[in-house]
Amino acid sequence: MSNETLDLPKIYDEAQDFMPLLGTDYIELYVSNSKQAAHFYKTAFGFQDLAYAGLETGITDRESYVLQQDKIRLVLTSPLRSGTDIGLHIDKHGDGVKVVALWVPDATKAYDEAIKRGAKHYMEPTSEEDSDGKIIKSGIYTYGETVHIFIERSAYNGVFLPGYKKYDSAYKPTSTGLKYVDHMVGNVELGEMMTWCNFYKDVLGFAQIVSFDDKDISTDYTALMSKVMSNGNGRIKFPINEPADGKKKSQIEEYLDFYEGPGVQHIAVATDDIIKTVRELTARGIEFLRVPDVYYEMVLDRVGEIDEDIAPLRELGILVDRDDEGYLLQIFTKPIEPRPTLFFEIIQRKGATSFGKGNFKALFEAIEREQELRGTL
Ligand code: FE2
Repeated sequence: MSNETLDLPKIYDEAQDFMPLLGTDYIELYVSNSKQAAHFYKTAFGFQDLAYAGLETGITDRESYVLQQDKIRLVLTSPLRSGTDIGLHIDKHGDGVKVVALWVPDATKAYDEAIKRGAKHYMEPTSEEDSDGKIIKSGIYTYGETVHIFIERSAYNGVFLPGYKKYDSAYKPTSTGLKYVDHMVGNVELGEMMTWCNFYKDVLGFAQIVSFDDKDISTDYTALMSKVMSNGNGRIKFPINEPADGKKKSQIEEYLDFYEGPGVQHIAVATDDIIKTVRELTARGIEFLRVPDVYYEMVLDRVGEIDEDIAPLRELGILVDRDDEGYLLQIFTKPIEPRPTLFFEIIQRKGATSFGKGNFKALFEAIEREQELRGTL
């Protein structure tokens, strides 16, 4: 699974190569009803069936549906009985991201390097095989109960991983144009941002590419700090947020309260045509955060000329920002589970390699309006 390569600023040279990562292999969510979640991700987001594991494949404690859209693979897993680690994870955190799997050339070496550099063990290098070949996987903890699993799959030709069978139901909603994971953001506790940035630097050889402080990202009420870590080839970017002091509760604290600890806040997925994608997602029931209409009266003064007409951007609520290398279009969904925790970002990059700093203020004010409605501000 290779992600699309962006034009990378020089800073990526500072990332180190002891941990070659080929891309995001899959993202696994622990959810309370994998069958219904699979239906939702197919219907609303346009994912397609790929693979299945559960009772019919000899797995007795869990059921997993694997869905794919272009280069993005989601695994949706639920327990089949009480008292499992998966069930406990769901009870504590609600539906959320458990695994961010990284595609590596050598999962044993990746594990050894990471452990040697201070990572907390999750899974020893383990070989699994079926009639389609062999994989090796290993795993380490990152923030909270979230883990990275290293997947070595060069000797495997099956549909996903050993133990999974091809899944192909009659229900095939069309794609919405989502192409690859652009970045995945983690929320960590106050004072812990540097701990986790250093973890990605020391353990996985990442380099810091962007930093925002509370002066960049604050409104009257809420503030946060954020740093973006990237691996050497720029295919994997993990921004890390921590709350900063504000007059009222920050959106990061709200997340930490409801997730009951650190975890993945949002998954940003790229499209080549954000207007078409967001129009489709909206028609399929995905709800997005909206900024006030006045945003569109000022946006062109801020970002200069863009290829798109402003009318559909305004109609759909798509945001625009520019950096030295170009511009980007982005929009954020509302949380996609009962707790105000995980959400998605849809992003189209037109040269820009940044993350939409110019939109933060308008966006956070929109989030605060939602928090107000939830009574959690
Ligand atoms: Fe983002």
